[in-house]
Amino acid sequence: MENERMIYIMQESDITEAVDIWVEQYGRYCRSSEAFPPNWLKETRGIASFLHKKVSDGTTIVAKQDGRLLGYLAYDEFPFNGEKSVFCPTIAHAVVDEYKEEVYLSLYQHASQKWVDRNIFNHMWTVFYNDDRLMRILFDLGFGSYLIDAFARGDDRMIVDPGYTVNRANLQDVEIVYGLAEESREYYRSAPLFLRRDCYSRDDIKGMIQDSNVFIARIAGEPIGFINVSVSQSDNIIDLSTSNSGLIDGMGAYIKPESRNKGIGKALLKCVFDYCRENGIDGIHVDFETANLFANRFWRRYFDPMLLSLRRTINKNINDR
Ligand SMILES: CC(C)(COP(=O)(O)OP(=O)(O)OC[C@H]1O[C@@H](n2cnc3c(N)ncnc32)[C@H](O)[C@@H]1OP(=O)(O)O)[C@@H](O)C(=O)NCCC(=O)NCCS
Repeated sequence: MENERMIYIMQESDITEAVDIWVEQYGRYCRSSEAFPPNWLKETRGIASFLHKKVSDGTTIVAKQDGRLLGYLAYDEFPFNGEKSVFCPTIAHAVVDEYKEEVYLSLYQHASQKWVDRNIFNHMWTVFYNDDRLMRILFDLGFGSYLIDAFARGDDRMIVDPGYTVNRANLQDVEIVYGLAEESREYYRSAPLFLRRDCYSRDDIKGMIQDSNVFIARIAGEPIGFINVSVSQSDNIIDLSTSNSGLIDGMGAYIKPESRNKGIGKALLKCVFDYCRENGIDGIHVDFETANLFANRFWRRYFDPMLLSLRRTINKNINDR
């Protein structure tokens, strides 16, 4: 007779099997686009060391049957916008395909009871964007989409309207970029996005102009928007970008409301693609909230979504007696 499937705390001896399941999962869901970094199929040191750390924290559970590892779930705990939260990035979970639904459900059931018992009501989980089966499970559990991580290789055939000038910012442009960045915070705060973004100081902006690349778009000499791209120095096990990728992550991109939908974002993006191509950077990463209506439309034209982060908020009175 088959033994029952059981949940245990992960041990060091489970790590090799867990990494194999994760790599198989990455291969299954991330072969569809040339823009997705292939390195993660071969370079498993990052995920293995993440799991070693999680084993020593005791924050990873596994599902096993007849001694075989069927899947695992790990999590990080952190305050998200001031609220106690747990976060399961893509490297923090994987399940064999044949038992996918039931094993994911039992892992979440086991882990989430412990989180809620400790008053952690905000659950965040990142999945591969093409993993429809897991997305359906999470949707039924009450998760909704929050953030997309997307990748592009750059397009060298973009044609842009010559009515705008785009230049790389220098230190004399600090005040212009600061003004636009402050204005962008109001955009992020408003409906339907409601996102609180940190304030950049003039020194932060000076640093970005010097150490990364800020491009400013102008119409008739008037600054109307910017884009910021930096170059990564290491692999990132959370968003799965790799070393020497372009990152449109810091201040991102912002165009004044009256100048949107006129091809200026495209002109700024062309500068990023040109810069990356000229500097031997062939992968570019961006992330954006799905509730950001402009971003959600714009980036999808040029980037392929690889990861989707979902969020579930548990009723706050659940532990009241
Ligand atoms: C996201 C953002 C940077 C995009 O820049 P943009 O200048 O509005 O983008 P573009 O004009 O190049 O492209 C947007 C649309 O305009 C269309 N467009 C492009 N050139 C056009 C032109 N000459 N005339 C009319 N429409 C045009 C594009 O086809 C596109 O439409 P589609 O999405 O239906 O295909 C900008 O809208 C913005 O700053 N939004 C607020 C801040 C923000 O969300 N930043 C991103 C954070 S991650």
